[in-house]
Amino acid sequence: MKTKHKVAIVTGAGRNIGEAISHRLADDGFAIAVVDLDQGRADHVVSDLTAKGIEAAAFVCDVSDPVQIETTVNAVHGHFGRIDVLVNNVAISDNKHILEIDLALWQKTMDITLTAPFYFTKCVAHKMVADGTGGNVVNVSSTTGYFGRGRAIAYAAAKGGVVNLTRAMAIQLADHNIRVNSVVPNKIGSPVGKDEFDPSRPIVNLRNRPGVPSDLANAVAFLVSDQSDFIVGADLFVDGGCSVIMPGGSG
Ligand SMILES: NC(=O)c1ccc[n+]([C@@H]2O[C@H](COP(=O)([O-])OP(=O)(O)OC[C@H]3O[C@@H](n4cnc5c(N)ncnc54)[C@H](O)[C@@H]3O)[C@@H](O)[C@H]2O)c1
Repeated sequence: MKTKHKVAIVTGAGRNIGEAISHRLADDGFAIAVVDLDQGRADHVVSDLTAKGIEAAAFVCDVSDPVQIETTVNAVHGHFGRIDVLVNNVAISDNKHILEIDLALWQKTMDITLTAPFYFTKCVAHKMVADGTGGNVVNVSSTTGYFGRGRAIAYAAAKGGVVNLTRAMAIQLADHNIRVNSVVPNKIGSPVGKDEFDPSRPIVNLRNRPGVPSDLANAVAFLVSDQSDFIVGADLFVDGGCSVIMPGGSG
């Protein structure tokens, strides 16, 4: 099928932040490739989008497997005929202390959280370059990419990698009219890997509320639009200002 719409791929689009990004970009006129490991979640999002009259299709893909990434990018391009936007949203957290984590969980967290954004972008960029269309890539990073934390080790290292991967990709793809930026969330909706909102999660920010998925989706929509044409390789913090607070408090 060839679409008259611009096409956005959203990874980990089956729930929470990825689901909200899919709906927000759809509202801006994009056809959506809903990529998720979980078929039921992906189908659910596609059915909600198509009920709104949006062109959308589900692509089941385990992003820890580079062969599945290649197959998915080819399938999306074959289905829609073009790819304009990639949102590298999927991640998992190890939620482990360095004295507890084993190498297998370290590697799995790296594969999904850092290697997948690299390889997905590489495959999509090849299509954009071949088609001569240019495009936009947004990596969903995390405040954990800037700070150490007690509750995760591999996730912190992987997200730190995503921060500089964004800059490196921005430089390498600029000549092909592909802009690469990141969004940096903190405590948005339910914690990574969880279905349910956790009301006991401590929230310290300048808005005095937890973030909601639409906060992040709005930022992504801006970064893939022409409104942000002069913004490249940037990290847009969507964290209620928590990262600007001096350790020990804001007073
Ligand atoms: N939720 C937060 O508070 C928060 C805070 C900071 C950063 N982030 C970042 O935002 C992004 C989205 O987080 P979220 O909380 O919405 O995540 P989530 O765990 O709620 O959803 C992730 C989705 O990815 C899918 N998925 C998991 N493993 C996959 C794989 N191997 N291949 C394909 N799909 C897979 C899941 O099925 C799920 O639908 C992540 O990059 C995360 O690091 C979230």
